[in-house]
Amino acid sequence: MNIGARALAGRPQVWAVGGGKGGTGKSLVAASLGIHLAQMGRRVILVDGDLGAPNLHTILGMDPPPLALSDFIKRRFDSIETVVFETGVERLSLISGARNSLDIESLKHFQKTRLLRVLLGLPADVVLLDLGAGTSLNVLDLFSLADRALLVILPEPTSVENCYRFLKAAFLRRLYHLGRTLGHQPIIDLVMEHRDQADDGRPYEIIEEIARVDSCVAATLASHVDTFLPHLVINQVRSHEDERLGESMEWISDRFIRIPMRFAGAIPYDPTLVQCVKSRQAYLSEYPRTRTAEMLRAVAESFSSPRAGPRGGAGPRTPERDAYSALDLRPGAMQEEVLTAYLRLRRTLRSDSPALASLDCEAERQATVAAIEEAYRSLSRNLTVPSPVRRSRFPCSRNVVPPRRRGGRPSARRRVDIPGDRITLDSMGAAHRLPVADL
Ligand SMILES: Nc1ncnc2c1ncn2[C@@H]1O[C@H](COP(=O)(O)OP(=O)(O)OP(=O)(O)O)[C@@H](O)[C@H]1O
Ligand SMILES: [Mg+2]
Repeated sequence: MNIGARALAGRPQVWAVGGGKGGTGKSLVAASLGIHLAQMGRRVILVDGDLGAPNLHTILGMDPPPLALSDFIKRRFDSIETVVFETGVERLSLISGARNSLDIESLKHFQKTRLLRVLLGLPADVVLLDLGAGTSLNVLDLFSLADRALLVILPEPTSVENCYRFLKAAFLRRLYHLGRTLGHQPIIDLVMEHRDQADDGRPYEIIEEIARVDSCVAATLASHVDTFLPHLVINQVRSHEDERLGESMEWISDRFIRIPMRFAGAIPYDPTLVQCVKSRQAYLSEYPRTRTAEMLRAVAESFSSPRAGPRGGAGPRTPERDAYSALDLRPGAMQEEVLTAYLRLRRTLRSDSPALASLDCEAERQATVAAIEEAYRSLSRNLTVPSPVRRSRFPCSRNVVPPRRRGGRPSARRRVDIPGDRITLDSMGAAHRLPVADL
């Protein structure tokens, strides 16, 4: 069953929180998202989709409810509302995962479709699924069929690697369901073929393959797939580098994996949160004023009102437009934006970039670096002279010291060190790159 195929009117939105790896903070983010939405006036039902090791109630500071989702799945009750419990937060309810361990792998197809059907009938504005770890079909199905999906990862190479793997697998699963909905067997066959090489393959190639035989079906698929825009949260960040990872992963996913993903925000590590879990307190309700709470709310806001999908405006292609697009900028972006984007992408594309994790894309990386260099060179030639005011607001002011005035004399180029970069600024304040061996 495809949730997206059901009429939106009168039914709750189904949002899913997943992430492949265990212990990244999925339940914490799902609980916080639920609390925030409820505080904003929406009726929310949190569903602990981790049937193997449910613990959402603990994160919400509750005792285990006497009835759980497993009771409904095993048909002990006809109405799912029997297993919905109040959380103590107004407008926020919980369906707990299981009283006795019921492995999520054991959820049969008919149980899964029944579950999705009844979730869509719940009296709520948002049904929020907290999924378990791993990439079992049930987790992937619930994630890929949800109206909105959020990935929660840690700023660690293993977590980044798992995230891309999860994203590709969920994308394939979404294609598979679209194939079934459209009754198009070739799509289903191609998905099954690609499934075995999900780690290395590019799932988007399936759409290209289909386009070669049936461009109409491929266009329909592409438009459906464009609506699959998972959001990404980096949890437990402890440095600026950790914070920047999300932005880089968004770009890598768009360009190299060709599955659009949006960075929703980075959540700082907070030891108080660990204490809250130990003492069964809901963090967001108990500590609403910490930086971590602020970021949890920012993530909830960003996820609730997603940014538009693909970037770049409409219009005919020109070399200049292509240069802006290579730097991920809108046409006509300011000089500062060009330099900032250039430095950001260079960082993203360094051979040791954490956002590249274990992706096998060295040739593509080098080609992209060359394209970015070329784009930056061509746009730098056309840069306008910045005014003194603008110069004082130089965007890299944290890293780059603005050029000093030298009584009208043309100044020689000065070298400014940015960690990992070599940039010179000329007398007009325009930035020029010196070759860096790493690139
Ligand atoms: N931002 C944070 N700062 C500090 N500790 C955190 C943070 N986020 C999560 N934790 C800690 O990580 C633990 C695991 O979080 P959580 O249960 O939400 O992970 P999970 O991804 O749902 O795990 P599982 O895959 O087992 O379901 C929490 O109990 C908490 O102690
Ligand atoms: Mg969990």
